[in-house]
Amino acid sequence: MKYDFDQIIDRKSTHSAKWSYLKKIYGDEEVLPMWVADMDFKSPNEVIKAMEERVRHGIFGYTGIPKSFYKSVSNWVKKRHGWNIDEEWIVFTPGVVTGLNLAVLSFSKKGDKIVLQPPIYPPFYKVIEKNGRKVLNNPLKFNGIRYIMDIDDLEKNIDEDTKILFLCSPHNPVGRVWDEEELKRLEKVCLEKEILVVSDEIHGDIIYSGNKHIPIASISDDMAMNTITLMAPSKTFNIAGLHTSVAIIPNEEIRKKYKETIDLIGANTTNIFGLVGLEAAYNYGEEWLDELLIYLEGNLKFLMDYIEKNIPEIKVVRPEGTFLIWLDFRELELSDEEIKDLMINKAKIGLNHGPTFGIGGSGFQRLNIGCPRSILEEGLSRIKNTINNL
Ligand SMILES: Cc1ncc(COP(=O)(O)O)c(C=O)c1O
Repeated sequence: MKYDFDQIIDRKSTHSAKWSYLKKIYGDEEVLPMWVADMDFKSPNEVIKAMEERVRHGIFGYTGIPKSFYKSVSNWVKKRHGWNIDEEWIVFTPGVVTGLNLAVLSFSKKGDKIVLQPPIYPPFYKVIEKNGRKVLNNPLKFNGIRYIMDIDDLEKNIDEDTKILFLCSPHNPVGRVWDEEELKRLEKVCLEKEILVVSDEIHGDIIYSGNKHIPIASISDDMAMNTITLMAPSKTFNIAGLHTSVAIIPNEEIRKKYKETIDLIGANTTNIFGLVGLEAAYNYGEEWLDELLIYLEGNLKFLMDYIEKNIPEIKVVRPEGTFLIWLDFRELELSDEEIKDLMINKAKIGLNHGPTFGIGGSGFQRLNIGCPRSILEEGLSRIKNTINNL
């Protein structure tokens, strides 16, 4: 391997959301953080170098978006996901969650319903509720091993107040990489019932072997015209703090309205380093990403083997993509508060608490494997020692 993903780099001194506020969040500085969805790896050298070069210029005034920005997005999407997109479909957004808010503000009104497929990344709820819209839950079905969409339930519950569906593809936290058949079934319902699909594909580059990420908008022309796809290099290259992402919107009318909302709330201002970072990552980061994926797959295997051998009471929901692992603690027959207390106060490990992911989250915790293997091993040994002492 050319890149050293085993290297441990101190992040506590950088105001890292994951590492620098442990006392505030968990009440204990000794907690090992394995929660927020960023990674403990350095970004590709090419990204660092491009930003260094820009720093050396020394002037950081208001900055426009160069043509090359759009080109690097379209090249990346074609190369990694086989989707041909027009550069004019690409709209800059300062973050994917902002992109979700923009869609809600543009294409629904207060009181309208937006479909979620829980358990789901908690900000999805917040985006809907804080904007005065209502959540229509379409819970995923779980057979103890794998989650699938419940399309019949979706079809049954959509009504005329339902305007948007938030798709999480790949799905955080359950790690599904949706296959073509599922996406086609979803497409049929959404087109028939005129539901706009807002597809959050921020994890779309982190895919394990044997799986393929399919942008839902790429499955048909009709679906392309009915979808806002949100993508970003943030998870892929560990540059979430640069807050630079895109919405890909083939439908001209939808795009126009979306851009109007961007202007309305002043979300059209760029971040110099985000622009530079995105281009460098998409243009030169592929080799790094391919190695990262091998390393993450190694972490996943290490975790699966470790838990099976040492903590068999916990079941791993094997992810097909994402560096987030959904752990099933239900066999322990403890309450959510007891699991939380055990993890934070006994094991001293900071995970994401299952119930925050909504329906289906009870009895689960989410663990982030985007870290050097030695940190993963330390985290798992803390869980093992605690559970084995119960
Ligand atoms: C599914 C999903 N969407 C969006 C985000 C955050 O995106 P951003 O930081 O660009 O708002 C995350 C981060 O964890 C995520 O998991």
